[in-house]
Amino acid sequence: MTDDTALWLDRGGDLRVGPAATPVPEAHQILVRTEAVAINPVDWIVQTIGSLIYAWLSRPAVLGEDVAGEVVAVGSGVTRFRVGDRVLGLAVGTEKDRNRPEEGAFRSSTLLSEDLAAPIPEGMAAADAVVLPLTLSTAATGLFEQGQLGLRLPTTADAAGERESVVIWGAATAVGLNAVQLAVAAGYDVVATASPTNAALLLELGAREVLDRRDAAVVDRVVAALAGRRLAGVLAIGTGSTARGVEIATRADGAKRVASASTAVSFERIRPGRTAVPRALPSMLRMAGVEVPVRMRARRAGVRVSTVWGSALRHSAVGPAIWRDFLPAALAEGRYRALPEPLVAGTGLEAVPDALELQRRGVSARKVVVTL
Ligand SMILES: NC(=O)c1ccc[n+]([C@@H]2O[C@H](COP(=O)([O-])OP(=O)(O)OC[C@H]3O[C@@H](n4cnc5c(N)ncnc54)[C@H](OP(=O)(O)O)[C@@H]3O)[C@@H](O)[C@H]2O)c1
Repeated sequence: MTDDTALWLDRGGDLRVGPAATPVPEAHQILVRTEAVAINPVDWIVQTIGSLIYAWLSRPAVLGEDVAGEVVAVGSGVTRFRVGDRVLGLAVGTEKDRNRPEEGAFRSSTLLSEDLAAPIPEGMAAADAVVLPLTLSTAATGLFEQGQLGLRLPTTADAAGERESVVIWGAATAVGLNAVQLAVAAGYDVVATASPTNAALLLELGAREVLDRRDAAVVDRVVAALAGRRLAGVLAIGTGSTARGVEIATRADGAKRVASASTAVSFERIRPGRTAVPRALPSMLRMAGVEVPVRMRARRAGVRVSTVWGSALRHSAVGPAIWRDFLPAALAEGRYRALPEPLVAGTGLEAVPDALELQRRGVSARKVVVTL
């Protein structure tokens, strides 16, 4: 018998809370009693069209990447955490090489890799800490992985000399707020685009300039803001951002690199249900129709466009550099802020489906969170 529960995703996108066996940690895993989870766009995307884009995912599945809670058991090889520690961490249960419901976030206790977890600083609520895991990891992957922008890590000492510039397009997204902080911590000059309502926050985080992403002349303005400086790369976040990134990298001096975190078409209007995949096909075709010409334009201009997979850092040195060597101290010392601020949508796994809907309808510089 078990007291554990999970939010199970069935075929067709139905979600139901039901019993779940208590997982047993592997050597380098910790078992965390979940206190809070956060919602990412990928959760409702997989709920809706997962059978197409996450075809490997067996059902019933457990979604969710962001977990904060208390360690209740540790694997035999775990060195960084003990029972009773409070942690935030990245759940990877839906990844192709894991595909394990025991490792999804939306359950009362879950397994995390000790390499993808960090202590919650004294006095920080789980609901505040849980905003970070996937968006921090995605930002770090896009900025620091060699196959992406390949920037210097924030753990690398002393950025001497003229600071290179990084453009963060879509900087008020959850990924963007993390990217700005990471790029600043790594010693880069940051030029950001966002809605003007979020400009003050981005300047506070260290961006040098924040330009209105909807301004018809925004690309010209970004290029002007880069004048006399060397571009280290563009991190493109948000629907349509890759095309803008390619234009900027084509015109600015420096590295011709764009790391693309978002698709060219958004799926937020496709509601979950058994007919979701056929309903999504026109959007898929439209996406190919937009993305192929962008990639061709990039190739002609000598701009390398790479696609970001937010958890890729778990297979490289970037994972420990961020999760072990940078985040714990930076968070505890207040050099890194847990952003965006949480928007608590409810309590209990039963509240997650409505929270998914809330995130799908759109938020601005807020992270939808559910406490358990
Ligand atoms: N590749 C990956 O592994 C990965 C992982 C995580 C997320 N993502 C993607 O990254 C994007 C952001 O995710 P998130 O969780 O950070 O989102 P989010 O916090 O829900 O994004 C909300 C923000 O998006 C901004 N926004 C809306 N439309 C935009 C557009 N067309 N261009 C730029 N910004 C736009 C708004 O900014 P303003 O306030 O400025 O209007 C709003 O503050 C999504 O496309 C998501 O699918 C990818």
